Amino acid sequence: MISRKEAIKLVKNCSKYSHLLFASKLMKRLAEKLGEDSMEWELVVLLHDLDFDEVRNCMSKHGVVAAKRLKDELPGHCLYAIKAHDYRTGFKPKSRLDKALIAVDSLVVLMEEVLEEFQKTDKQDLKDKLEGQSFEEPWHKSNIQKCKEFGLSIDEFFELALIPDKKLIDQFLEARAEGKSGSRI
Ligand SMILES: [Fe+2]
Repeated sequence: MISRKEAIKLVKNCSKYSHLLFASKLMKRLAEKLGEDSMEWELVVLLHDLDFDEVRNCMSKHGVVAAKRLKDELPGHCLYAIKAHDYRTGFKPKSRLDKALIAVDSLVVLMEEVLEEFQKTDKQDLKDKLEGQSFEEPWHKSNIQKCKEFGLSIDEFFELALIPDKKLIDQFLEARAEGKSGSRI
């Protein structure tokens, strides 16, 4: 299994780097709450967009190319989660990990949109954004609602995401200001 340090090295130049760091924090926290393997879950989220810049014009390959490249680095169920995180590949989410990756990915996009707008984020902002018209890609809402399938209510999921992490938020806002965050799925 790849180490966290090596995983970071692999995605360091990816346009979604700050999104991946943000999402990996939440995924780790979620795994701990659910009693899952937090190291494994963190690695999956860190690496799930490894191929994004390469396949952005052919999204049916998104995650599939990454999984192929990571075949000696991660176990099969982790590679499957990476292939299933984007519905356009046709791989259906089955396990708790598959669903958690999808839900966390979209919740972080939602948080990033709220942060970009208000420079801060709280539960009400997130709820308003989830219901609001400005949340551009409609599939994010059903992705976030997948939290119910792994045993969390929307409120619990938002609360978990809102444990303050000032360093990470500052880092995101900085990357955004420089046009480097690339959070869109
Ligand atoms: Fe993605």
